[in-house]
Amino acid sequence: MKKILVATEKPFAPAAVAQIKEIIEAAGYTMALLEKYSSADELKSAAADAHAMIVRSDKVTADVVEAAKELQIVVRAGAGYDNLDLEACSASNVVAMNTPGQNSNAVAELAFGMMVFQARNHYNGTAGTELRGKKLGIHAYGNVGVYVAKIAKGFGMEVFAFDPFVDEAKIKADGITPLSSVEELYSTCQYVSLHIPANDKTKKSINADLLDKMPEGAVLVNTARKEVIDEEGVVALMEKRSDFAYLSDIAPDNKDVFEEKFAGRFFFTPKKMGAQTSEANINAGVAAANQIIKFFKNGDETFRVNK
Ligand code: 3PG
Repeated sequence: MKKILVATEKPFAPAAVAQIKEIIEAAGYTMALLEKYSSADELKSAAADAHAMIVRSDKVTADVVEAAKELQIVVRAGAGYDNLDLEACSASNVVAMNTPGQNSNAVAELAFGMMVFQARNHYNGTAGTELRGKKLGIHAYGNVGVYVAKIAKGFGMEVFAFDPFVDEAKIKADGITPLSSVEELYSTCQYVSLHIPANDKTKKSINADLLDKMPEGAVLVNTARKEVIDEEGVVALMEKRSDFAYLSDIAPDNKDVFEEKFAGRFFFTPKKMGAQTSEANINAGVAAANQIIKFFKNGDETFRVNK
């Protein structure tokens, strides 16, 4: 009988685990659960006899793939798959998938939670500002960007987007103004919400030069990956510009510098929290389980991300 391992250092909500289990067992497979593990060895030994794995930001390295001798498929229950070693998966004939769109609304809501927190001076009792009428730039108009745009319109923000991979007509059809360069997006918008993936082209691409183009009262909101930020550049810019704030879902590596120098101008979640809602866990976890079952039963490779 095929064994599907759910390996989540940061656990899904219990309701999501229960639904995943039900789906797996109804299909005639068994589920194993490894949560809150603290070493790669624990993951490797749990994966040793698994035919499939469901993970979140868990690192599926070449070592893990090597240890998982029976593995046929790994599904990242979420969007960004920079935590999967795709080459190692391909070399071992392991299909790698993600579940795009399933946790996007949760991430978008967190972006606004952080923006309101900053606009209201961290709820410290002083007079803050409102989002209504402010310009918001969406950097990459994918699944999360689309939800961010919808919510922003509810707040009465003026919304712009830059995404060279999305047809301008689609952006316009959503009532959003497409801009033609990244520089134009940053120089137009007081708020910028980042939704680019982390890859060789984007790592450290959000640098001080680009951010310095942002207007007075600039707020950078990062619910993407910390790797896309030039963290030292952000520090240098925040030293130069006392009007600049940085909000990030997960702390940068140089968090201590922010704590020491920029009180009131940053907010970092202690763990990546964007997708950490019961709804998003259910959507992404159930989608992952169903994708694995369709793969085992019909060879369905929709959402495959490796070659
Ligand atoms: C994603 O890429 O789907 C999000 O960053 C969520 O990651 P998580 O499942 O580790 O919370």
